[in-house]
Amino acid sequence: MKRDFLSINDLNSSELQSLFKRATELKSGKDRSSCPLIGRSVGLFFEKPSTRTRVSFEVGVYQLGGQPIYLTPKEIQLNRGESIADTARVLSRYLSAIVLRTFKHSTIEDFASFADVPVINGLSDIHHPCQALADLMTILEKKGRLSGIKLAYIGDGNNVVNSLMESSAKTGMELVISCPEGYDPNQNIYKQCRDINNKIEIVRDPREAANMADVLYTDVWISMGQESEADHKRQQLRGHQLNSSLLQCAKKDAIVMHCLPAHRGEEITDDVMDSKASVVFDQAENRLHTEKALLEFLIS
Ligand code: CP
Ligand code: NVA
Repeated sequence: MKRDFLSINDLNSSELQSLFKRATELKSGKDRSSCPLIGRSVGLFFEKPSTRTRVSFEVGVYQLGGQPIYLTPKEIQLNRGESIADTARVLSRYLSAIVLRTFKHSTIEDFASFADVPVINGLSDIHHPCQALADLMTILEKKGRLSGIKLAYIGDGNNVVNSLMESSAKTGMELVISCPEGYDPNQNIYKQCRDINNKIEIVRDPREAANMADVLYTDVWISMGQESEADHKRQQLRGHQLNSSLLQCAKKDAIVMHCLPAHRGEEITDDVMDSKASVVFDQAENRLHTEKALLEFLIS
C-alpha cells in the first residue's frame, strides 16, 4: 500500500530515526550509487512560491536518477474546473510521487485520498513536515540528541510550529512556544501532542521560553496567504523578536534556527541571524538530504 507524508505523524519514531541515518549517509557523499528513481518522474504542484522546497526536491529527484516536473495552477487544468480527484487519478498514471504546496491542508488530504502514488506535503496552512525533518536532522547534527533538548520557538504559532509540536511528541524534545495571545498554534495538534509529551507548552514571555534553551527557533510573522492581516499582526508580534538580548537568555552553546525565508529586522535581527550560533544555512541544506531519504523510503 502506498504511504503518504502529509504530516510528521505519518512516520513512526523508528522510521524517523532510520530516515535521519539515511539522510546522514546521503549527505556524507559516500553512497553515490543509489539511483532508485531512474526512469521515474516526480511531480511538484505548487500553489505558492518556494525557494528551498522547490529547488531541494528538484535537485534531490535528479540526484536519485529521476525527473522532477514542476507545475503551478496556471499550467494545469485544475484551475479550469478539473476536479482534484480526476487530477490525482491522472497524475498517478504518470508520476511515482507528487509533492504538493497548497493554501488549504484539505486540498492535500483530498489529493492524497484519490492518488495511487505517495503524496508529500511541501507546506500547507497547517503543516510543514519536510521542514521539520530537516530541523530535527540539524539538531541531531549539532547537539547529538533530540530527547532532553529544549527548543524555544519565538513568534507566530503557524504551520512550522505545528510540525515542530508533532516532532517533539515523536522525539521527546522539550518545546516551549512563546507567542502573543490570539497567535497560538493549532489547538488540536497542541492537545494531541501534549498528551504524548507534557514538555510542550505555550507561554507569553519570550524570555521565559528562551531561558536555558538549547535551540532558539523563529519563523516569519506573516505566512504566505496572510498578507491582508500583515499590519495588525506585525504590531501584535513586535515583542516576539529573536534578538541578541533573547539569545543571552539561552544556554551559552545554544543554536539559532529559522526555516527561511527570513524577514531580517522583523522576526529576527541581522546580528543573531549572522551570529556564530546561527545554523540556518545548514538547516536549509538538510532539506535536500532528508527529502532524498524520504523519497527513497516512500517510492518503492
Ligand atoms: N523553508 C521553506 O520551505 O522555504 P521555501 O518557502 O523557500 O520553500
Ligand atoms: N510559515 C511560513 C513558512 C515558509 C517556509 C509560511 O507558511 O509562509
